[in-house]
Amino acid sequence: MPTSALILIRDPKALWFLNRGTGFVLLSLLTLSVVLGVMASSRRLPKWWPRFVGNELHRRVALLSLSFLVVHIATAVLDSFVSISLLDSILPFQSPYRTIWLGLGTVAVDLFIAVLITTGLRGRMTEAAWRSVHVLSYLAWALSVVHGLGTGTDSHRAWALGTNAGCGALVILCLVYRLLTTTDLALPIRVGLLVATFVVPLGILWWTIQGPLAPGWSHRAGTPAPASKAAK
Ligand code: HEM
Repeated sequence: MPTSALILIRDPKALWFLNRGTGFVLLSLLTLSVVLGVMASSRRLPKWWPRFVGNELHRRVALLSLSFLVVHIATAVLDSFVSISLLDSILPFQSPYRTIWLGLGTVAVDLFIAVLITTGLRGRMTEAAWRSVHVLSYLAWALSVVHGLGTGTDSHRAWALGTNAGCGALVILCLVYRLLTTTDLALPIRVGLLVATFVVPLGILWWTIQGPLAPGWSHRAGTPAPASKAAK
């Protein structure tokens, strides 16, 4: 048996560490995928943007994130510290563990799966139908950020906050660039989306300060008594 598998069996905490680690890798990969997607569909690319970086890389990064998603979910389900079933990773708001915040991760996964499936079926759909599902990636990405902050043990750590802030800044920058350079949308819609690009992250920042960074979050987030993981 490979040594890594032995470590997972002998040290129950290894699953938990793997779950946390893959959570951040997953968030970084999804961020990269969103950034590449936004830029690949921009009509005017900045001069400094490498020309070989296009739609193909966007698709491959999205597919790569799937493998980390599988490990993230599998370790959450196998980890015996908390009770999360496989069904909880598909049906949102079912798990007794941090119900809302875990549930948002599940909604994000469901949305990403819808995006991946419709991309596979793109040839059989109208462009408008495909696009209307594909824009849900933004919502899924934002929900996964809130899920990570609300569920994660490391949310208060400087490196975790830095990772979230870095991912947020990258997505905001690309969206602002896209909205400023696109001609496809009417001006009032562009202005509305630009406002939302700043208001939504500010809302998440405000909630992070009041919620995950404030004392007693573990209890308020809905950690069941026997699974008081957040005390770790
Ligand atoms: C796109 C979807 C998802 C992303 C990007 C994501 C990302 C993250 C991140 C960044 C964390 C924080 C880890 C930490 O602070 O150490 C986290 C925590 C967690 N995630 Fe997810 N996640 C996703 C979906 C899910 C789903 C569907 C489940 C349910 C099975 C899940 C289960 C967990 C659990 C149990 C934790 C808490 C780990 C701990 O105790 O610290 N995640 N996730």
